[in-house]
Amino acid sequence: MQVVVCKDAEEGAGIVTEEILGALESKPDLVLGLATGSTPIGVYQQLSLAHCEGGVDFSAVRTFNLDEYCDLAADHPQSYRSFMRKHLFKDINIPEENIHFPPSEGPGLREKCLRHEDEIRQAGGINIQLLGIGSNGHIGFNEPTSSLASRTRIKTLTEKTLRDNSRFYEDPSEQPQVASTLGIATILDARRILLQAYGEKKAEAVKASVEGPISSYWPGSALQMHADVTFILDEASAARLEMIEYFRKSRADRVRLQEENTI
Ligand code: F6R
Repeated sequence: MQVVVCKDAEEGAGIVTEEILGALESKPDLVLGLATGSTPIGVYQQLSLAHCEGGVDFSAVRTFNLDEYCDLAADHPQSYRSFMRKHLFKDINIPEENIHFPPSEGPGLREKCLRHEDEIRQAGGINIQLLGIGSNGHIGFNEPTSSLASRTRIKTLTEKTLRDNSRFYEDPSEQPQVASTLGIATILDARRILLQAYGEKKAEAVKASVEGPISSYWPGSALQMHADVTFILDEASAARLEMIEYFRKSRADRVRLQEENTI
């Protein structure tokens, strides 16, 4: 596990974007796992700019989003399909048929979710998975106590998640309670994972995920089992890490060794 402590979210988004664009250069049909929420918006802005001003081609890229609400129409402004259209897809040249979301409408959702896992495998698996993290440690909508072996399925959202996201709903009765999400094991199958977390509200979840014991109570801690994961943080979200000075040194060493072409 690597931890990078950035000056701010913009610097973090720059690091993530640079890695995606580098991967895209060597693999134009990159398979990206995408997150919604406020955290990845900076990356989506920078990717959109790379297309509009830098001519970066997304025509062969395939995407799999992490989650989608079940009790919201796909064209509802708060659906994650709408979110992705607004913040990324409308601004890049990705074909509609290359965009995937976990199934969120019945009937037969359970079977559709299983088939979704096949679709990811048939695409060759996810090359780079972007993650945010909930203040309760959820990744995707894998809420605390989600099985660490879970696959794409339906989850009920916790009170904490509902509270965190209530700002998007003027009428609380409109807020969806249930979502489909890639499972923790599905996320761990990705070859590379980049988790961004910014702000003091995420400090407890970051601490538990990076330095705590692996536990389904803090789903982000499952990432300790992944061989190629980087947490991209700001000072506030990293504030509770006991090993923060080690992480700073390790990052500086890595940058130096890369500049010297040693690694
Ligand atoms: C969204 C998702 C969630 C968010 C998390 C943080 O697709 O998977 O796990 O990453 O709820 O949300 P923000 O970024 O709004 O703090």
